[in-house]
Amino acid sequence: MHGKLSSLAVVAAATSLVAGIPLDRRHYPGQDYLVSLGPRPYYLVHNVSESPLKDKLVACENKPVGIQSWSIGHRGGGTMQIPEETVESTLAGARMGAGVLECDVSFTADRGLVCRHDICDLHTTTNILLKPELAAKCSIPFTPANATHPATALCCTSDITTAEFKSLCGKMDGFNKTATNVEDYQHGTPAWRTELYDTCGQVLTFPEWIDLVDSIPGYRNFTPELKTPPKAVPLPFNGYTQAQYARDAMNVFVQKGIDPSRVWFQSFTPADIYLWLNEFPAFGKQLVYLDEDGDTPDNFTVAVNRLGALKASGVSVVAPPINYLLTVGGPNNDTIVPSSYAITAKEVGLDVIAWSFERSGPLSKVAANEDYYYASIAPITYYDGQAYNVIDVLAQEVGIIGLFSDWSSTVTYYANCFDL
Ligand SMILES: *[C@@H]1O[C@H](CO)[C@@H](O)[C@H](O)[C@H]1NC(C)=O
Ligand SMILES: *[C@@H]1O[C@H](CO)[C@@H](O)[C@H](O)[C@H]1NC(C)=O
Ligand SMILES: *[C@@H]1O[C@H](CO)[C@@H](O)[C@H](O)[C@H]1NC(C)=O
Ligand SMILES: *[C@@H]1O[C@H](CO)[C@@H](O)[C@H](O)[C@H]1NC(C)=O
Ligand SMILES: *[C@@H]1O[C@H](CO)[C@@H](O)[C@H](O)[C@H]1NC(C)=O
Repeated sequence: MHGKLSSLAVVAAATSLVAGIPLDRRHYPGQDYLVSLGPRPYYLVHNVSESPLKDKLVACENKPVGIQSWSIGHRGGGTMQIPEETVESTLAGARMGAGVLECDVSFTADRGLVCRHDICDLHTTTNILLKPELAAKCSIPFTPANATHPATALCCTSDITTAEFKSLCGKMDGFNKTATNVEDYQHGTPAWRTELYDTCGQVLTFPEWIDLVDSIPGYRNFTPELKTPPKAVPLPFNGYTQAQYARDAMNVFVQKGIDPSRVWFQSFTPADIYLWLNEFPAFGKQLVYLDEDGDTPDNFTVAVNRLGALKASGVSVVAPPINYLLTVGGPNNDTIVPSSYAITAKEVGLDVIAWSFERSGPLSKVAANEDYYYASIAPITYYDGQAYNVIDVLAQEVGIIGLFSDWSSTVTYYANCFDL
């Protein structure tokens, strides 16, 4: 684990001249680093219905592929099939052409900053329950399922030290609710993902992640997300406040001398955004306010109506889930069109980033599964090729500036084809 990272650190040193490389060399690094899309975008393109969009996508099949900053690697970018927030998922997203890579920033018992999507998801995203001495430290230890109750556990990054965190293996996010023992509890990945790469994904501290991303050829940018702890971890945590945590996280970029133009720091918590706007103005233009406050029809209206105030308060970039941006419309009520949220965000001058593509499995099942990301267009979503109709509306009609994806090549293919 350490060996791999220190060799990456050597690469980081060797490529620190990257800022001097002309722009086209950054995006097409050359024979020493090839972006590779794999078969999935081609499978999707072939399933797009006959249309000018399909013609254009087919015409791009052999177009040279470069790194696309429109393509944002969600939890790394290989997350659909490779354990999230690991070295492996990050390298996969980068290889699939993501120009911006994500780490979710959580804190440990000794206030280390580490990459984990939820402060309390270690029981489903790592092997912690298989390590008795660490499992014993979990906020809620493992309880096996019985006839009336599912298996439970709750293990938080704040339960363990940074060194203990580094001894864990990343795995696919999932659990077996009927498990009667910790070995069985490890499984539960949906069939359209895979456990093929559950071979001890290398977990990362936040500083290690910055060095890793900085070391990848092609000049990649950073989009960390500061997590707000769940109720199980009340703040202040042994004196640690959300404000100090927000400061500490941004200061890692400052200390490493990363250019603010490469950083798109995100948070769902308005106080984080306003703290950074005040205390780190150099990073202010690219702060990303994550919006999930519109999940019911009433709340959606409230969320749309406050976009103007958000912009007026200094926010430049808003990032809602895909379903907030799209709705069903057109003369026959059978077309994907921009929603009132999308139209209003543009009108008030906010840039928009959307999340997250490729988390939904086969599109033929999104309606039956009540999938979140397709919720607003589920009645007209039937087959996988429509993934590119969705991206096309987000790109051309909503005009988003970036799209998070659990499988970066799907988004990279489109962005490369359309020169976004
Ligand atoms: C797309 O795939 C579905 C099966 O999921 C099939 O019914 C449909 O005909 C395909 N469409 C095209 C244009 O290939
Ligand atoms: C089943 O588990 C729950 C909690 O996990 C416990 O409260 C309950 O007593 C158990 N039932 C039996 C029959 O053991
Ligand atoms: C889930 O756990 C139960 C009970 O331990 C076990 O019988 C079953 O095989 C497990 N399922 C998976 C997918 O591991
Ligand atoms: C809707 O907004 C209210 C008030 O802010 C909040 O209490 C409630 O949890 C929200 N509902 C959803 C589903 O987000
Ligand atoms: C389209 O569907 C929506 C929601 O189902 C409905 O309110 C609206 O009246 C429909 N419009 C047309 C033109 O059929």
